[in-house]
Amino acid sequence: MKTAETIKEVRKIVNQWRKEGLTVGLVPTMGFLHEGHESLMKRSLEENDRTVVSIFVNPMQFGKSEDLDSYPRDFEKDSCICQNAGVNLIFHPASEEMYPAQFFTYTDMDILTESLCGSKRPGHFRGVCTVVSKLFHIVSPDRAYFGQKDAQQLAVIKKMVQDLNFDLEVVGCPTVREADGLAKSSRNTYLSPEERKAAGILHQALECARQAISNGEQDIAKLRSDMVQMIESEPLAGIDYVELVDGETLQPLKTLEKPALIAVAVKFGKTRLIDNYIWE
Ligand code: PAJ
Repeated sequence: MKTAETIKEVRKIVNQWRKEGLTVGLVPTMGFLHEGHESLMKRSLEENDRTVVSIFVNPMQFGKSEDLDSYPRDFEKDSCICQNAGVNLIFHPASEEMYPAQFFTYTDMDILTESLCGSKRPGHFRGVCTVVSKLFHIVSPDRAYFGQKDAQQLAVIKKMVQDLNFDLEVVGCPTVREADGLAKSSRNTYLSPEERKAAGILHQALECARQAISNGEQDIAKLRSDMVQMIESEPLAGIDYVELVDGETLQPLKTLEKPALIAVAVKFGKTRLIDNYIWE
């Protein structure tokens, strides 16, 4: 496994692979890798001759009052995880490599970024789209792997690839969970033992909605209010949003139609966690 810190090095390695006729998969991450990230790497390794993992805590996607400085980092451990998984190249750039002084160009999107996390985290998806488009240009992968856990991010990246004619396939991968159903996340490490226990309510609320829908419940307002009530029964949980939106446009649903995305964001202390269920 190689590690590159510069764009030039990555291009040199990938160009050599291309000359050899090899296919390339990219797994963009912010590091502090867990089994969710590993599932993306595994899928890429299965579907491509070579796999690149990028590890970059992207400052542009964090709001001013968000957790950029405290975001967990452990490059040595991440490097071992990648090595053991069979990854071929880690791209681990410094911030200045990605954003030199005098950086003026951004990738942005309307509509899909107006709801859910987009409405709560202004500028977040501009940061995500900008860094991911840069990574796509730097690595030029055949396929790029993203988790369903960040459902809005996955939908936004798919649309960006379509709208801007990136010549690659975006592959969505299922959410990997803890034993109690909590979606694995680098941010779970922030939780106190009490908050960690309470966080199980996210998955429980989504599971209740799933069951209600499969039992024939169609009333959006009722589905939503039942979830809100359930989450509010947990004293440590503070709801950021509970939404039922169209799975493609991410606009609020008036009637329950497939594909529907049921998405929740809940704070436990200072830690904001997201999860979702797709009805399709
Ligand atoms: P990060 O939070 O590190 O996540 C990297 C990728 O792992 C994302 O595609 C995310 O959806 C996926 N992932 C996270 N937890 C998962 C889980 N429990 N199961 C399956 N997949 C999971 O998302 C980002 O970084 C950044 O926004 C990034 C795309 C790298 C741009 O900076």
